[in-house]
Amino acid sequence: MRNEPLLSVSNLTVNLLTAKSAVRPVDGVSYSVRQGECLAIVGESGSGKTVMNFAPLGLMPTGVTTMLSGSVKLEGRELIGLPEAEIQKLRGKSVGFIFQDPMSALNPVRRIGRQIAEMAELHLNMTPKAAEARALELVKLVGISDPAARLRQYPHELSGGLRQRVVIAIALAGEPKLLIADEPTTALDVTVQAQILRLLKDVQKRLNMAMVLITHDMGVVAGAADNIVVMYAARAAERGPVDTVLVNPRHPYTRGLINAIPRREDPVGAEFRGLPGLPPALAAPFKGCAFTPRCDMAVPACSLARPPLEQVDGNVFVACPVVNHGKVAA
Ligand SMILES: Nc1ncnc2c1ncn2[C@@H]1O[C@H](COP(=O)(O)OP(=O)(O)OP(=O)(O)O)[C@@H](O)[C@H]1O
Ligand SMILES: [Mg+2]
Repeated sequence: MRNEPLLSVSNLTVNLLTAKSAVRPVDGVSYSVRQGECLAIVGESGSGKTVMNFAPLGLMPTGVTTMLSGSVKLEGRELIGLPEAEIQKLRGKSVGFIFQDPMSALNPVRRIGRQIAEMAELHLNMTPKAAEARALELVKLVGISDPAARLRQYPHELSGGLRQRVVIAIALAGEPKLLIADEPTTALDVTVQAQILRLLKDVQKRLNMAMVLITHDMGVVAGAADNIVVMYAARAAERGPVDTVLVNPRHPYTRGLINAIPRREDPVGAEFRGLPGLPPALAAPFKGCAFTPRCDMAVPACSLARPPLEQVDGNVFVACPVVNHGKVAA
């Protein structure tokens, strides 16, 4: 059906078990992304952004037992419970990935051209010759100048920005319908970050892909994303259209993140307006809203029960009893 979301995540919970710890980095999160749309997932370090996106696709490190519940549907197909062999077929083909560190996605001893072509051979069943031609098209698409010469180079011969362009070309080689970009600009020089973000946005629109853009930087969200999920301590604090949420953030945590964006009018040397305090450790269970200790709006009731995500208006959902119900009685 045309209007069905390409990716539909519903009440997703992820428990991770290692020899040393048991944590729940994702706790009942829901969102969806349609073809041609970009969803930003924002939140501080450790809030569960990476696990939420990669655990359902079988991309967790070894040594961790991953337990998933809820539902993750890609093109209507349920991923939770799908055998690993089936999930493996989707990786790189239906879903392309861009990881934070461009080097980790590249093989240091193989030429760029071969690495891109291999993905086209694997996922599109292309002959090596057709795949070479496709690799050339892809490096042009990602804005690499002198593409034929670049294809013969090795990753260490490229700058960080060029490497990330190659990583994007590799991610696009299987013609994915969904691109998941996990902090795609964090490892890059500030001057290059905006270029890479623009490139991602441009290819997403041109290829009419769905994109999930994971970031801890509210500054990259405006202009790049259609919708946003703000994560705090394994849960969604707020969700809605970017235009509405950035202009009128409801959850105190969303407001804090927006206030933390440096502004042009800030005097040089001005104190960083970051959010005071730290997010809670996930292993320590908390009864109420996890943001309570850092919240300037908190009332006693906030510590008693974890607030559900409730619709405030339009398509905006907020998990805050004070926003949703005023000064609730303790
Ligand atoms: N391999 C792992 N083994 C054990 N626990 C893990 C592992 N990976 C993640 N976790 C747990 O899941 C939590 C969320 O991790 P995740 O990587 O999803 O955070 P994030 O929001 O992507 O943070 P960042 O912005 O730093 O990338 C961590 O705080 C940690 O408790
Ligand atoms: Mg992460």
